[in-house]
Formats: sequence, C-alpha cells, structure tokens
Amino acid sequence: MVSYKELGLVNTREMFAKAIKGGYAIPAFNFNNMEQLQAIIKAAAETKSPVILQVSKGARNYANQTLLRYMAQGAVEYAKELGWENPQICLHLDHGDSFELCKSCVDFGFSSVMIDASSLPYEENIALTKKVVDYAHQFDVTVEAELGVLAGVEDEVSSAVSHYTKPEEVVDFATRTGCDSLAISIGTSHGAYKFTPEQCTRDPKTGRLVPPPLAFDVLDAVMEQLPGFPIVLHGSSSVPQEYVDMINQYGGKLPDAVGIPEEQLRKAAKSAVCKINIDSDSRLAFTAAVRKVFAEKPAEFDPRKYCGPARDLMTELYKHKIINVLGSDGKA
Ligand code: G3H
Ligand code: 13P
Ligand code: ZN
Repeated sequence: MVSYKELGLVNTREMFAKAIKGGYAIPAFNFNNMEQLQAIIKAAAETKSPVILQVSKGARNYANQTLLRYMAQGAVEYAKELGWENPQICLHLDHGDSFELCKSCVDFGFSSVMIDASSLPYEENIALTKKVVDYAHQFDVTVEAELGVLAGVEDEVSSAVSHYTKPEEVVDFATRTGCDSLAISIGTSHGAYKFTPEQCTRDPKTGRLVPPPLAFDVLDAVMEQLPGFPIVLHGSSSVPQEYVDMINQYGGKLPDAVGIPEEQLRKAAKSAVCKINIDSDSRLAFTAAVRKVFAEKPAEFDPRKYCGPARDLMTELYKHKIINVLGSDGKA
C-alpha cells in the first residue's frame, strides 16, 4: 500500500472547490508515454495550473502500471525542477470499470479514481460506485462517478446516440453513493469523430462541419439540483482542424473529424464543470508532428527527432487549453 500523499500528489477535493468558486476548470489530460507526461508537466508548471494526470485501463496495459506510477511520482519532482514550488498534481484512474481495478489504483498511489458504471442499470451503478467510494475514502482518495451514457464507445459498450444524464436522478445518486464528482452526458463523446456529418451543418465558406451545441439545459438542470457539486465533462477534445489538416496533408486519413468547439468548453468551464477531459487532441498533435517529420525527412530514424517535435506541439496545445479554454492558469 502506497499513499499518494507520500508521492507529493493531491486529490481533487480542494482543486474542485477552488475551481467552482473561481469559475474555471481543471485540465484532465490522459497520458500513456513519457513525451505526453513531459509536455503536460511543462505546460502546467509554466502556467502554474493545477492538473490531473489521467491513466486509463488501456494506458495501464500499454505502459505498465508500475512504470506509470513512478512516472507520476517523477512528474512531481520534475515540476519542482521547473520552478513550480508547490505542484498541484493529481493522479487519476480514468474509466475504472471494476471495484478491483479501482482498489488496485488506490493501493498503488493514485489520488483519485473514476468508477464508470454508467452502462449498468441505475441501482447497480449506485451499488458499485458506493463500494468504490467506501474503500477509497478510507485513504482520502476522491471518486468520480458517471450518470448518463456518452455516444460512441464507452466502457466497452457502443452506443449510437448519447443518453443525456437525467437531472431528476442526480441528487439521489450523489447522496446514496457519496461520490466526490459526477461525470454527466450532455452531448460530448470520446474520440475524433464526435458527430456524424448528418448531425452537423456545413460552413459554406470553409466547407468545415459545424457541430450542434451541447445540451446546456441539461447541465443547468443538474446544477440546479446539486448546487456547487463538482461536474465533469468527458469527451471534450476540440479536434483542432490545423492538426487534422496536417495529418491529412502528410499522408493520414481523417476525413470529417470533428470535436467540441472551444467556445462551448469555455462556457462550461465557467460553471460547476470543474474537470474537463482531453485525450484525443493530444493524440492528434502527436500524430501530426510525427507525420510531418516523416514526410519531410524520410531519412530520419532517431525517435528523438520526431518525438521531440511531437512533445513541443503537445506542450503548446496543453498551454493553449489551460490559458485560453479552461482558465486554470495561475491557480496553483
Ligand atoms: O476515455 C477514453 C480515453 O480517451 C482513454 O482512451 O482507453 O484508448 O486509453 P484509451
Ligand atoms: P476525448 O476523446 O474527447 O479527448 O475525451 C477524453 C476523455 O474523456 C478521457 O476520459
Ligand atoms: Zn472519458
């Protein structure tokens, strides 16, 4: 058993309380490798932004859970080395799908876990979430839960359409589970194809897809039911068109990729939404930079020569999100 406190990590409780009060959101960036982690920490340290490092089940399988834990521990020291005196870094399990996985992360030094039982029937979601909360809270580890289903693939369940969170369920759910934050479904989804072309309109000038707005009425109703309660938005990548264009220009194929417009995320960040999850945008930046080097320098075979530019582009992306979208700069 390792306590996250010994590793210099923090849970989400104070972060979220301050974010709601201050009208900004904490970035939750997924990482699977060293370059992503370096970029996240550099961006957070340079902007003095609290940050949540997210590890999915897939990331644990890809990178090895022991290595990821030590990387996060190293990240705290790296942040200090970069001049961030009191780093506010949370290590969070993203989309935990079982009690055993959540327990293993708590025991391993994570400061926060998500139990995503949103695809289960309501009562089963409550029972499993409560079991995780009861365990995690013994160690002051915070727990995110989810109500509602995002469109796309989530929790190994594929759903063609999203099922928005039902505001009439949130008080009962939060009270009975004791969860610390709640992920809701208001029209975001995972990946780089958040909407089908049929769901969008097309900008006649640029030919780009214009997505439909998020269901802010559902968010408002949830906030009315649970005033001041931390709300989480998954699937919040914006799918920047400059990265999509770069990828397509240098041999990739991502036709009609579309994300959540940044102005909608800016609006959400000012509300009780205090954690915004971003993974796909980092994947797009990484891929765009690597493809560019491969196309322009076909003789290059030193991974540092293409992972380095990828890291730089991701750092730029993370800083942009922190400063221009979430507003979390200067808050840590
Ligand atoms: O919500 C999903 C995250 O983007 C993690 O994705 O399961 O492919 O690591 P992953
Ligand atoms: P994106 O696919 O929009 O980056 O969402 C990431 C996410 O929700 C991780 O849990
Ligand atoms: Zn997610």
